[in-house]
Amino acid sequence: MTLPQRIVDFVNPRAKHQFKGRTCSIRSVGSYVPEKILTNHDIAQRVNTSDEWITSRTGIKERRIAAADQYTSHLAANAALDALKKGDVKPEEVDLIIVATITPDMPFPATACLVQKIIGAEKAAAFDLEAACSGFIYGLEIGQQFIMSQTCNTVLVIGAEKLSTIIDWEDRNTCVLFGDGAGAAILQNRPDSHGLLTTVMGSDGNKGDLLCMPAGGSKNPANGDTIKDRLHYLRMDGRETFKHAVNAMYKAAREVLNRCQLKISQIKHIIPHQANKRIISAVSDRLQATKDQVFINLDKYGNTSAASVAIALDEAAANGCLKRGDLILLVVFGAGLTWGAAIIEW
Ligand code: ACO
Repeated sequence: MTLPQRIVDFVNPRAKHQFKGRTCSIRSVGSYVPEKILTNHDIAQRVNTSDEWITSRTGIKERRIAAADQYTSHLAANAALDALKKGDVKPEEVDLIIVATITPDMPFPATACLVQKIIGAEKAAAFDLEAACSGFIYGLEIGQQFIMSQTCNTVLVIGAEKLSTIIDWEDRNTCVLFGDGAGAAILQNRPDSHGLLTTVMGSDGNKGDLLCMPAGGSKNPANGDTIKDRLHYLRMDGRETFKHAVNAMYKAAREVLNRCQLKISQIKHIIPHQANKRIISAVSDRLQATKDQVFINLDKYGNTSAASVAIALDEAAANGCLKRGDLILLVVFGAGLTWGAAIIEW
């Protein structure tokens, strides 16, 4: 597909003017979800809820749960190996690994370093980034900078979570929503494609309390009281988070569309953060998108935070939904609060 000149002009303006037009594309994507399936019926055995409530309020039917000896680094490495295989890229070619996660194997070293070891990406630098559910889009934007500046030729961006370890399985307000999994993308310059056309990132730390894990950091280091008070689990004000999610996702999507002077009808696929089908419907309605444009797989995986859009992107690609030249809108929202959107030419 030939893009209008105005979009080409917009693409990576810094690359165009300072770095002689080197753009960044997604060479391949991959994903991994654990084998164990936890259905709504299973959860209803543990807390006072029902398949009917969870399905009607969220759209989620089941989620994946990692094994006890399977950590975020393992999920991330499996997704990375899938992306490397699909892109015919060797681990030794990777210059940089970015892992977006709120459930690292441990506070340090970075999970990205553990992934580097597992996949044998010997020359790669590696670090983690924490932007909750928005982490994969933040990762794409950061990775893109390294390709544009010609600091790196191959960047591996991974969103990976073992959320089952920070979920309070006694709290019906949150335990029904989340699951484990990982998705990955390999970024390179591909001269025959425009790739990442534009990316928006945003945050509002004033609303950080809406969604957080109160203990385990420097504010509330682990002790007997923090454990007794169940402060090592995710806490969320669902109703408020819902409202902010719809607004922030809509505005981020509008901003990337406006920047590229695109109408929503020119977007082939919208791949939103898979948190709640009612959030997705509200955002799509405000954008005046049709149902056919919106990719949804949250019924199978729930909200996998930083992995969510990455897994969905890989599933859409694997299903043959994404054709070369299609314009794809990614849009996300998460704790922080954080949000983001990106338009990609596939
Ligand atoms: N089963 C049965 N009843 C429940 C359950 C459950 N699992 N959970 C809550 N309820 C009850 C509540 O107790 C409440 O009862 P009450 O009226 O007697 O107090 C009632 O259902 C309605 O509760 P609400 O919170 O108003 O329900 P809502 O329609 O808002 O749905 C939900 C809750 C699904 C959590 C929704 O608010 C939501 O999806 N919020 C956004 C979450 C999100 O998108 N997070 C994204 C970021 S995640 C990240 O960054 C890691």
